[in-house]
Amino acid sequence: RPRILSGMQPTSDSLHLGNYLGALVNWVGLQEDFDAYYFVADLHALTVPTDPEVLRHRTRVTAAQFLAGGVDPVRSAVFCQSHVSLHAELGWVMNCLTADGEARRMTQFKDKTAKGQNANVGLLTYPMLMAADILMYDAAYVPVGEDQRQHLEITRDLAQRFNARFGDTLVVPDAYIVKGSAKIQDLQEPTAKMSKSTSSPKGLIDLMDDPRRIAKNIRSAVTDTGSEVRYDPEGKAGVSNLLVIHSVLSGTPVEEVAASFAGRGYGDLKKEVAEVVVAAVEPFQERMRGLLEDPAELDRILADGAARAAEVAHVTMSRVRDAVGLLPAA
Ligand code: TYM
Repeated sequence: RPRILSGMQPTSDSLHLGNYLGALVNWVGLQEDFDAYYFVADLHALTVPTDPEVLRHRTRVTAAQFLAGGVDPVRSAVFCQSHVSLHAELGWVMNCLTADGEARRMTQFKDKTAKGQNANVGLLTYPMLMAADILMYDAAYVPVGEDQRQHLEITRDLAQRFNARFGDTLVVPDAYIVKGSAKIQDLQEPTAKMSKSTSSPKGLIDLMDDPRRIAKNIRSAVTDTGSEVRYDPEGKAGVSNLLVIHSVLSGTPVEEVAASFAGRGYGDLKKEVAEVVVAAVEPFQERMRGLLEDPAELDRILADGAARAAEVAHVTMSRVRDAVGLLPAA
């Protein structure tokens, strides 16, 4: 079976609805047909200074949320990035293939440094480590949200560059970005993506939030001055965002959801979207409670996932060592 891989950063105690609908839902669907590797990007999270105890906690709960969302750890390898240290080694090789200016032109780096955020070198080389994560597993597809598109493009460039310079060694991956759900918008500011770092508490839906609060946030979502419920992401960003959320969770095409609100107003739409989201979140939270009751089992799953990932990583890394002229490791 062809391989796929994806990761999420442990930057919060809870995934948000964008992470869930833009990525995790697809991870779960794809694990049926692909040999899947899903990891917590704890090394990437070190680019943002975090209290060690907090990072440890977030790493565990992020992994648990993959499982609560439906990732099956028997079928898919679930692991921590830092447990397969070859990621860092291949990341170094990727750094040495990347021009300084190329790294500085990446949007995420430019945005973060423009805001005057303390930019460590890790933030600059973040995309090269991400390329290593992906190329390590010969991934055919990488299921991510729209905001990761540029990272996938540089990964493809680096794989092609490596192959051109050293001979065919790495698989050039494709992004797997689902139109519509790949960019869930902020509820209060529907022209901006829902984001941990920039959304206001009312604009964000955390999967671990109190369901009453989730419903309240949806009911107070910003829509627009019209009254017709119609899927039109350009003209009706807020309404369209709610329709997409409904569509993915109810498994109904977005136009069909919109049609079911013909002759009804925004109030009805918000009420029903709140119900659909709460109906998804409650069993998710229930599964999380079960998973957190047994931390030893979670650690066992992560150890097993890391062992399976390491097997693949060792094969790729020896190919890479050989290609670039490093002596084989004993
Ligand atoms: P991260 O942790 O920021 O986000 C995890 C996943 O959630 C998606 N996402 C969204 N999708 C739709 N709407 C939104 N508002 C939204 N916000 C976030 C992201 O696109 C992502 O798929 N760099 C990655 C982590 C990473 C990685 C990798 C991913 C490290 N190495 C290798 C894939 C392959 C990141 O920071 O995602």
